[in-house]
Amino acid sequence: MAYVLGLDLGTSALKGLLMDEIGTIVGSATADYPLIHPASGYSEQDPNEWLKACESVFEQLSATVLDFGQQLAGISFSGQMHSLVVLDEDNRVLRNAILWNDVRTTTQCERIMADFGDELLAITKNIALEGFTLPKILWIQENEPELWAQVRHILLPKDYLGYWLTGTMHMDYSDAAGTLLLDVAKKEWSQAITEQFNIPTDYLPTLIDSSGQTGTLNRPLAEKYGIQQEVKIFAGGADNACAAIGAGILTVDIGMVSIGTSGVFLSYEDQQLPTYQGKLHLFNHGIKDCYYSMGVTLAAGHSLSWFKDTFAKDQSFETLLAGVDTIEPGAGGLLFTPYIVGERTPHVDSQIRGSFIGIDTSHTLTHFAKSVLEGITFSLKDSQQLMETIAGKTFGKIVSVGGGAKNSDWLQMQADIFNSEIVCLEAEEGPGLGAAMLAATGLGWFEDLQACSETFVNYRPGATPNPQNVEKYQKIYLVYQKVYSATKVISEAFGDES
Ligand code: XUL
Repeated sequence: MAYVLGLDLGTSALKGLLMDEIGTIVGSATADYPLIHPASGYSEQDPNEWLKACESVFEQLSATVLDFGQQLAGISFSGQMHSLVVLDEDNRVLRNAILWNDVRTTTQCERIMADFGDELLAITKNIALEGFTLPKILWIQENEPELWAQVRHILLPKDYLGYWLTGTMHMDYSDAAGTLLLDVAKKEWSQAITEQFNIPTDYLPTLIDSSGQTGTLNRPLAEKYGIQQEVKIFAGGADNACAAIGAGILTVDIGMVSIGTSGVFLSYEDQQLPTYQGKLHLFNHGIKDCYYSMGVTLAAGHSLSWFKDTFAKDQSFETLLAGVDTIEPGAGGLLFTPYIVGERTPHVDSQIRGSFIGIDTSHTLTHFAKSVLEGITFSLKDSQQLMETIAGKTFGKIVSVGGGAKNSDWLQMQADIFNSEIVCLEAEEGPGLGAAMLAATGLGWFEDLQACSETFVNYRPGATPNPQNVEKYQKIYLVYQKVYSATKVISEAFGDES
């Protein structure tokens, strides 16, 4: 049987997921690479590390899967979003990539929004945030003008890897949307934006659908790993788009909640574009002519790991969370807001900080742990609520992935707070699965991604809402929503003093 390879180019590692035509995982491999922090708030990576990691993934797969060389038919990608790669006229990398989690560009974001905010929002459907690509380009223009003078190509990480494998430069719409250079509705590079910010459009790669073919695996590399046949390469998508595809988020009534270090609430949007006015991110999907919206809680799993490391260092997560189900919703009157590193959705606020409200002598460590879980989930509900109130959505089902899917009490809490059935994935393979599905669809194994997901994506039950808890949480959520505005001034005052 033929194989597809999904390459997930993440922030800390490249993961390869090899799958056959009936959706069975036949092999997987991971190769790590380092982050570089040259100054506070800076986060960079050497693009050569991604290429080395790719060689390592090929090596591992060809060593462990006997017919890898004979059966590999297609490759596609999932990529960390927004991270800027610049090449010179000879297609050589000019500097380390500036990554999505690098926050050096606050001044550039302020300038973009002050001079061009309304136009940017109308064209890209998003506001300028430090993580996005356009502010990074402006930072290079301003701070490294000699290097900018040599730039001839602008790419994102997975597209640089794609270039190395095929010799062609492309970018799919889902990743292009995260650059803030794409006219999201027209699906073309925005002339208005590139002119405003002096970015020659010929620096930007050819746009293509995520399951569109960009080329074939170059012969020297193929031969090195014993690959005799032609291997087709497909453009791939942004990691959040690929995670959504891999979780089967292909219709409007299914949402996805993903809790890792940060947390994401994501929803599929069809051709009808809602007007979120920058309150949520709105990007082109990896599915042709469709979109997805998402809200981000900056410290989701991070809030829980911070809490454990600070107050229960010697306990496992299981021990810390044992007994949260014995405490009623509301943690005995204790409320936590997870703004410990600032927030993105629904409050774009780098100054706000977290809080425990309502502490009294009856509270135990378990009450605090429960309130942390509730605060993280309420924060994600803020994004769900924006989708429901602005776009009139209802979520019949929410797929929970990541750390939040590992604890049955937290799953029940998600069902009760989101007031929706929660399902989990049978096998959690992350965005790499979405990438493999893009290659499988690109090869024509399936008519479309929906058909592919019927074979590749399998669910297991998660939790069903308990009507009494739903009612209690609806009331507590109204209180939770007041904490942001009540603590904003306090956080600002403290920020000035400390
Ligand atoms: C999305 C974002 C992150 C990166 C992580 O806007 O910044 O989720 O995609 O790779």
